[in-house]
Amino acid sequence: MITKTFACPGCNTQISSQGNPGDKIRVVCPNCGKKGIAIFAVDKADLKTSTAPSSIEVADLTKKYKDLTAVDHLSFNVRTGEIFGLLGPNGAGKTTAIKAILGLIHTNSGKIKINGFDIKKEDIEARKSVGYLPERVAFYNNLTPLQTLHFFCELRGDDKSVAKPLISEVGLEGAINRKVGTFSKGMVQLLGVAQVRIGNPPVYILDEPMAGLDARWVKTIRERIKMLNKQGATILFSSHILSEVENICDRVAIIDKGKLIAEDTVANLNKYLRIKPRLEISIPGLSGRIPEVLKDLKDIEEVNAKGDKLFVTCESSVRSRVISMLEKTGLKIDNIKTIEPSLEEAFVKLISEDEGDA
Ligand SMILES: Nc1ncnc2c1ncn2[C@@H]1O[C@H](COP(=O)(O)OP(=O)(O)OP(=O)(O)O)[C@@H](O)[C@H]1O
Ligand SMILES: [Mg+2]
Repeated sequence: MITKTFACPGCNTQISSQGNPGDKIRVVCPNCGKKGIAIFAVDKADLKTSTAPSSIEVADLTKKYKDLTAVDHLSFNVRTGEIFGLLGPNGAGKTTAIKAILGLIHTNSGKIKINGFDIKKEDIEARKSVGYLPERVAFYNNLTPLQTLHFFCELRGDDKSVAKPLISEVGLEGAINRKVGTFSKGMVQLLGVAQVRIGNPPVYILDEPMAGLDARWVKTIRERIKMLNKQGATILFSSHILSEVENICDRVAIIDKGKLIAEDTVANLNKYLRIKPRLEISIPGLSGRIPEVLKDLKDIEEVNAKGDKLFVTCESSVRSRVISMLEKTGLKIDNIKTIEPSLEEAFVKLISEDEGDA
């Protein structure tokens, strides 16, 4: 049994509640009477067991658009308390799968549960348990963020007093009176993160929350997702960029052409796929020649040269040795870049392994 103390979002009174990891316990503020749910986070170590409870259950989901099978017998579970990445290239079926999970589109087959509620039979409870950030977030341009959140509170039948604290939580308090139409894409996305928090649902589904944002905003959104998770929320988010998810996801599912092709921790996938970052070393006058010294160096997986650029694939622990060997031979290094493995490389590898096994 864990004791959790938190501030009432309505009046800031400190409230204590007791529960076990994974529990969601109804609480009523003794001061203002506001009702809410205390979520007891699951220990990350427990998530590794396949018997850990699940907050999103997807079994045999299929969605066809005429002749096109957008989602093809897809099954995966998002365990309570984890951040789960749904990864796939453009057109893989991520948005279709998400809409089907939320019961927003008709499906050909599949059983979906959110927070234990069947999306078809207990749709109201299931939908109340989840905050959904769609792929294309759109707000009214002539409303301020405060008016926007008030509008969504009214739609959900929630108390408007949560709006201001939520705007502060995502760091938009400095823009509280500005019109949303003047916001940057990153700010709109942050407002989206605030909007999905209305009602304090235990589960969040975010469709490409970092798409089209620059590195600084990606970091900001990533921090918000991490913070939500730290507060006990379970998060499913989709992306087509491996590097966006690898630092924050407990597990990922990779889908391609609507089919699940891998589901594991990012670390295990990397180990399994053995896809490593590549070093791109610029050496003026290299002229496509691989330096002799690298030919004898163990632990290098692959080395290629093209023009003045040398491409070396090796473990990160070997990189500094590669550089010092090159320098010792008198080569002048102009620039060094790390090229992160792309999801496309992972797909090619996974798909060709699949075909090889068949
Ligand atoms: N309403 C629709 N009618 C017909 N085909 C559709 C419809 N919605 C999606 N599709 C098709 O289903 C496939 C999966 O699309 P989906 O939008 O789910 O992919 P995605 O993984 O979300 O892609 P992206 O990364 O570009 O957002 C695509 O081939 C798409 O063209
Ligand atoms: Mg999509």
